[in-house]
Amino acid sequence: MAPIDPHSFTDSTHPLTTHISLSLYFDFSSSTILSSAILTLSHPHTGDLLLDTRSLTITSVIDPTNNTQIPFSLSPDVDHIKGQPLTVSVTNCSKILVTFVTSPSSSALQWLTPPQTFNKKYPFVYTQCQSIHARSIFPCQDTPTSRVRYNAKLNVPHQLSGVMSAKHVERRAPVKGEGMLACDELLWCADGRIVEEFVMEQPIPPYLFAFAVGEIGCREVGPRSKVFAEAVGSVLDSAAKEFAGTEDMIRVGERLFGEYDWERFDLLVLPPSFPYGGMENPRMVFLTPTVIKGDASGAQVVAHELAHSWTGNLITNKTNDHFWLNEGFTTYAERRIVEAVQGEDIAALNIGIGWKGLVDEMERFKDNMEFTKLLTNQEGVDPDDVYSQVPYEKGFQFLWRIERQIGRAAFDEFLKKYISAFKFQSIDTHTFLDFLKANVPGIENDIDLKTWTEGTGIPPDAMEPVSNIYTKIVSLAHEFKQGRMPSEEEVASWHGQEWELYLENLPKSVEASQVTALDCRYRLSESKDYEVKVAFLQLAIGSRCNEYYNVVEKTLKEVGRMKYLRPLYTALVQGKEEERIFAQRVFAEARETYHPIAQGVVECILSKHL
Ligand code: BES
Ligand code: ZN
Repeated sequence: MAPIDPHSFTDSTHPLTTHISLSLYFDFSSSTILSSAILTLSHPHTGDLLLDTRSLTITSVIDPTNNTQIPFSLSPDVDHIKGQPLTVSVTNCSKILVTFVTSPSSSALQWLTPPQTFNKKYPFVYTQCQSIHARSIFPCQDTPTSRVRYNAKLNVPHQLSGVMSAKHVERRAPVKGEGMLACDELLWCADGRIVEEFVMEQPIPPYLFAFAVGEIGCREVGPRSKVFAEAVGSVLDSAAKEFAGTEDMIRVGERLFGEYDWERFDLLVLPPSFPYGGMENPRMVFLTPTVIKGDASGAQVVAHELAHSWTGNLITNKTNDHFWLNEGFTTYAERRIVEAVQGEDIAALNIGIGWKGLVDEMERFKDNMEFTKLLTNQEGVDPDDVYSQVPYEKGFQFLWRIERQIGRAAFDEFLKKYISAFKFQSIDTHTFLDFLKANVPGIENDIDLKTWTEGTGIPPDAMEPVSNIYTKIVSLAHEFKQGRMPSEEEVASWHGQEWELYLENLPKSVEASQVTALDCRYRLSESKDYEVKVAFLQLAIGSRCNEYYNVVEKTLKEVGRMKYLRPLYTALVQGKEEERIFAQRVFAEARETYHPIAQGVVECILSKHL
């Protein structure tokens, strides 16, 4: 008996689940889901079986083949990271029917009341399961070592529609018996309810399970892509415009990494509280609405989530210790797509922004160097607390280093081979390294693979991008320290990413008068591009320029993307007493509008400094 993943109770001696069948009755009045799940195991099992749960109420466990009760116990001890193991005791059993209810505080779910939506008419709910939140929706072996197929019936009020990261089968009236004990038949089949039915034929790790329910509309943006969002004409129109280049990107991805294996690539634009820029849910990626900036830089986030279709979703990290296999490969793949569709200069800017991000993380983790490694030990660590740029940017740097060593053509061939060798599998760092050494003989003599994967810090053979525009912007940022602001002419061609790179390379703190002078000239605090606005506000906070605190407050209250919340709250708590009190007050007022994952992360930031 041994756990196979530091973040799961799943035991090495137990069979893994291969299929899940879900019936979910959405009760918006109580922000809960009355649910049932049939788990099918890879082979019949006798003895205890451990499943992950978090804040679920289990009502029964049954063997659906003979309708007999199965003894079960939900541990009264709650592990603050892993949740509560559900132990079911089975005899020669390969199917288990669990009935249960989610909690309003389920960590994967954000329930929005009508006033919190754009149209203000109907409620909305959506999921975010990565890394370890699927267990707060249904009991499962919530480790990416496991891959499951599933089907799901979402029973929702007829005014709403449901979308999933799966194939839509049909929208229809509820049918008696199909609720599989999720709730009373009368409730399941009540007037005014409809069922949205889905099937997921490709096996996925549980963290890629996803749905959203609300007043949702869509527009077609390509032969295999639609964009979905709250049904607001203007939102759908601007989203359709922003993502018009999707099919071109998919084709570039296919050319570089092999066939697109997920049939559809739809996009769902979520409410502003969505805690990430994007989430690579298969067949339908989830996106923050902040990517619709009208300047097409949302393309980068789409390129990233699309790239996960090969790296992450086809080949998945076995546990979060190997998270860099997902994000480092995807960052590399994203930049190759960006380079192909937007050109080398934009790709170089992204590499440069990432480089600065990586350097800054070394400072953040200077007392906890474990998290500057690619291969990490996350025993006893909440992955949301140590989420950082390291797996993305150090992972990118490692792959870029290999590319430099063997040349682009050989590396492209290697990547395609790697993807086809391990598709639909979950692997670890050593499996990758073995494959690399087998396919690129002698690579270990040219690159210190151990230092790259197991060492701390930034290896000496990592590198900044070589590009005129990159070098120019970084040197302009250095000149700001001497009091020189870039001229109108110098910034004439700058878009969001140029400004982002410039601002990131300024010192953390400058004279308050310099901050206001910069803003008077270039109106950065009013930028519609949140990357620019937040980078500027970070500088303003670091420079104790409190005339911007009302903009900071407004920003913290209108978006829930953690990429913006983290630096702003961190900059505030690192300030004086006054800033800390300000941060606490704003969080108290904004808390309810954040996704539970973001609430937890901000709480963690505040608690470290108060
Ligand atoms: N898979 C991640 C988001 C994620 C990571 C969610 C870990 C939960 C735990 C997604 O692909 C991602 O990296 N999003 C980035 C996009 C960016 C790199 C273009 C984001 O949200 O900022
Ligand atoms: Zn990613």
